[in-house]
Amino acid sequence: MRVAVLGGDGFVGWPTALHLSDQGHEVHIVDNLSRRWIDTELGVQSLTPMDSIQERCRIWHQETGKRIHFHLLNLATEYERLKGWLAETKPDAVIHFAEQRAAPYSMKTDRHKVYTVNNNTNATHNLLAALVETGIDAHLVHLGTMGVYGYSSVGAPIPEGYLDVEIDTPTGKRGQQILYPTRPGSIYHMTKSLDQILFQFYAQNDGLRITDLHQGIVWGTHTDQTRRHEQLVNRFDYDGDYGTVLNRFLIQAAIGYPLTVHGTGGQTRAFIHIQDSVRCIELALKDAPQAGDRVKIFNQMTETHRVRDLAELVAKQTGATVAYLPNPRKEAEENDLLVKNDQFLALGLKPITLAEGLLSEVVEVARKYAHRIDRSRVPAVSAWTKDLAARVDHDPEGKRLRSVS
Ligand SMILES: NC(=O)c1ccc[n+]([C@@H]2O[C@H](COP(=O)([O-])OP(=O)(O)OC[C@H]3O[C@@H](n4cnc5c(N)ncnc54)[C@H](O)[C@@H]3O)[C@@H](O)[C@H]2O)c1
Repeated sequence: MRVAVLGGDGFVGWPTALHLSDQGHEVHIVDNLSRRWIDTELGVQSLTPMDSIQERCRIWHQETGKRIHFHLLNLATEYERLKGWLAETKPDAVIHFAEQRAAPYSMKTDRHKVYTVNNNTNATHNLLAALVETGIDAHLVHLGTMGVYGYSSVGAPIPEGYLDVEIDTPTGKRGQQILYPTRPGSIYHMTKSLDQILFQFYAQNDGLRITDLHQGIVWGTHTDQTRRHEQLVNRFDYDGDYGTVLNRFLIQAAIGYPLTVHGTGGQTRAFIHIQDSVRCIELALKDAPQAGDRVKIFNQMTETHRVRDLAELVAKQTGATVAYLPNPRKEAEENDLLVKNDQFLALGLKPITLAEGLLSEVVEVARKYAHRIDRSRVPAVSAWTKDLAARVDHDPEGKRLRSVS
């Protein structure tokens, strides 16, 4: 297949591009490298040293003889170029990762809110309109998030995208399936909720074939392909905006920083290892919907954990300490989370769980590159409201206090 990987320079996009190329697909990465610019804006860098995307593709060719093509294009602002590129390349499948994906970054200031909405909503809508206009019948696989469901305790497993409801009609009750009501907890999650409506419309109106993957928090760093050469290494975000919870605990443990738990740590979240994430995308590609079908939705996660339990697990394994800090997010202090993921299991996914021992691999990677970590960028300080901003702890290590005494 000819596969376009939009956002293929990113944390999940890069290993996906390698995985699909390894399987013999012709892979085209489209990316505007905005994520690298955001690193520059924030004054942070990936824990792992990333080469340019062109250099990464060159090393892959050198190692495997396979080519990954790179195209510099902004999906959100270059509609005509996108349409021209699709018409020329004619992909069989398009995997769409190309969005601003950090909830804290999306809540940082009003400018970051506006950027995230403009970037994500226009990127998705431009892609959908261009697919219709060019008449390209590609299977579109989008990376959504478990966060669209919201994190309130419902007491029942969250189904895969659609909810069975009964409606009172004059002739009695009638069963129906509706999109699970969204309850986004940040501007970023809100854009993913908007994406769902766009997909529903284009599947129904134009017969686009769309799969939406509601992904949990991705952890880990290496996949079978990124391990093959030092310069194929994946990016690894550790900072307070882009670092995700489990990976952050692991780098904190590696550098002797307290594991920063927000609030009571009673938030329950869904997780998936990066190797399983790329495998799920491969499985979803093979299970394309037909034109006229409703959007196919999978819950792409393998296990759920309470944040404080994760912190305690990492602390036990590594000897790290745990610091309970004020929560910069507006969210339920405690929530349960039960999730169905039957569809991927039925397609043959064999989940990699925390128990598999890969936690220590991440700690080793973090120790190897510990000299690249700026400790002052570790705390999560982007707050959801002005009131919460006033309570944020900017220095959980207490360095300021130490230097004064
Ligand atoms: N990382 C996670 O834990 C996680 C969890 C759930 C869902 N997701 C979703 O998976 C997708 C990929 O996540 P990631 O962690 O790899 O993010 P990432 O930020 O590392 O990668 C996204 C890539 O898209 C590119 N991009 C952004 N806007 C673009 C635009 N307008 N035009 C072209 N390229 C653009 C960026 O430059 C970047 O390389 C995202 O859509 C994210 O919402 C990620």
